Amino acid sequence: MNNEKVHENEIIVTADGSHTVHSNMFNCSFHSLNGAIQESRHIFIENGIDYFVKKTGCHTISVLEYGFGTGLNAILSYLYGIDHKISLIFDSIEAYPLDFNTIRKLNYAQLLGIQDSLILQFHENKINDQICESFKLNLHKQKFEDFLVDQQFDVIFFDAFGPDDQPTLWERPFLDHLAKMTHSNSILLTYSVKGSFKRALKSLGFSVEKLPGPPGKREILRATKI
Ligand SMILES: C[S@@+](CC[C@H](N)C(=O)[O-])C[C@H]1O[C@@H](n2cnc3c(N)ncnc32)[C@H](O)[C@@H]1O
Repeated sequence: MNNEKVHENEIIVTADGSHTVHSNMFNCSFHSLNGAIQESRHIFIENGIDYFVKKTGCHTISVLEYGFGTGLNAILSYLYGIDHKISLIFDSIEAYPLDFNTIRKLNYAQLLGIQDSLILQFHENKINDQICESFKLNLHKQKFEDFLVDQQFDVIFFDAFGPDDQPTLWERPFLDHLAKMTHSNSILLTYSVKGSFKRALKSLGFSVEKLPGPPGKREILRATKI
């Protein structure tokens, strides 16, 4: 693996050739080292947005992401919207945005066939940023714990660091807060299938299912609000 030191973060090349970032603040990587793009596509796009579109037939979907990070999930969602003629309103929360030196070094533009300037635009911290006709980005530069809006989202990308690193985010009462921003049929996707997390979601009115994970990860979780 080629590692390149950049300020407080380190860029790592994962097994599918796509970059991830190792956060020195949290001492964790943003994605699986088995493949960042592969993991994001599998969990959040195929088992999240694509599943929701096929299940509901909706052509306009609202997404709330916990943890904007590199912006990879947002960029893959944007590309999905274009390919499938789906409009997305994408809200994402991030309290510790990456510095632009790190963002400029990420290889997502090259691997996904998009302009470098588009990647930078995703990180500009704007609300109501109409990136293209079918994709509106609202980037909320604040802590997850402080984010509460009077809106119910269709799809939640729960992409905080793991339950061992950020335990309170995977428990009630934090999850009560999140559940207020869901409606009946909202879905939540994440990469952890921890038992206490599943029980907390069930107690908040979600049904939970374990799904096969991307290469290198046995299972992932999808929860549906009943
Ligand atoms: C696993 S990474 C997210 C990866 C991201 N979805 C991507 O596509 O690159 C988790 C992110 O959550 C952010 N974060 C951690 N704790 C937070 C908190 N309490 N409030 C807001 N952001 C937080 C981190 O800075 C990090 O960017």
